[in-house]
Amino acid sequence: MNDGIRELFSLQQSIINDFVTMTFNFDTPTNRLSTNSLRWDNFDHQKVLPLWVADMDFQSPPCVIEALTKRVQDGVYGYTHAPIELNQLIADYLLEHYHWLIDPDWIVILPSVVSGLHTAVQQLTKKDEKVLIPNPIYNHFKLACISANRQFEQIQLQLVNERWVFPNNTLASLDTHKTKLALLCNPQNPGSTVFTEPELRALGNFCIEHDLWICSDEIHAGLVLDENKKHIPIASLSNEVSQRTVTLMSLNKTFNFPGVGLAWAVAENPELRAAMQFGLHETIAPPSLFAYTATLAALKEGEPWRQELIQYLRLNRDLIKNTIAGIDKLNIGKMEASYLAWIDCSNLNHHNPYQLLLDAGLATSPGSQFGQSNFIRLNFGTQRARLNQALEIIQKTCK
Ligand SMILES: Cc1ncc(COP(=O)(O)O)c(C=O)c1O
Repeated sequence: MNDGIRELFSLQQSIINDFVTMTFNFDTPTNRLSTNSLRWDNFDHQKVLPLWVADMDFQSPPCVIEALTKRVQDGVYGYTHAPIELNQLIADYLLEHYHWLIDPDWIVILPSVVSGLHTAVQQLTKKDEKVLIPNPIYNHFKLACISANRQFEQIQLQLVNERWVFPNNTLASLDTHKTKLALLCNPQNPGSTVFTEPELRALGNFCIEHDLWICSDEIHAGLVLDENKKHIPIASLSNEVSQRTVTLMSLNKTFNFPGVGLAWAVAENPELRAAMQFGLHETIAPPSLFAYTATLAALKEGEPWRQELIQYLRLNRDLIKNTIAGIDKLNIGKMEASYLAWIDCSNLNHHNPYQLLLDAGLATSPGSQFGQSNFIRLNFGTQRARLNQALEIIQKTCK
């Protein structure tokens, strides 16, 4: 048996094993057409398979669906405050999953991580102060700076041992006298790096040395796929780092209810906490009552579903890795977290790889949206049959 066949055989075997032990069936097709889905209803579905914007094609966990159904059936949807137990449940969740001990009073409930990013940039920097951001990066990092009229400096991530990381000497060489805030995305989107403790310490120490606030977007924390990695909130490293950090989190991505929407900021420092409350319930609407219901259900009962989701996504990840390895002109790093494959198309020598694939029937996210136009981002949070279809298109178009 050659290596390729052996690998394929072991992948098939693990799919069979999973099928035997899985309680939740992620292969069940879902139909999202005519639901005003941002992903599905913006392309002609007869011609294009849409694997772009970052939500998944799976139903949310049964515990979330049941809780929402019950709440809908109540029939009265008046003004609703956050459930009394919410902050304590979040604090318990962070302790259990990330060994991060926080006081529930450090939490500020927000309608979305994006609104948190925008608030952080507006409130934690003055007009003439700069923001540090990684590149490539989720587009709202830049948009938050642009809409607040703040300058930003990008740190180009480099592929080292198949991981997108901050290059060793870059931080030391930065001129920071106008810089006040560093934005971090951990796990990183795109690129899916789960930053290690030494990597986070290097960034944390740099921010302490140069007196920078940190805003860390950790929305993908519940989706670590790499068997050897754990998510570490940067604020959990030390009291010193915690005192200068706002951490943004949400269960929207992990449990697939971003259309319902609830996020939170954790800030130990009261000055940072007050900054994150700016505009809340005034220009920024609170989460909907359904968002409270969905988040509570996921916090209390979602873990068995999340465990199986991770198993399913790992197999999707392996399928992508093996397929891309067989296409000379494409490259991909490790996919340590989430369901977003960051594919390097430089060797295709095509001016617009996104358009090339779109013309062939596959909608991905164009790398230009994140700052690197020679890449595409493929959403693999979908049924394996659909992923196989997408990979066939990629193979035919790029081989
Ligand atoms: C890194 C990152 N932050 C924030 C968001 C959006 O979060 P929300 O829907 O809570 O605004 C996304 C969605 O793709 C993301 O990838």
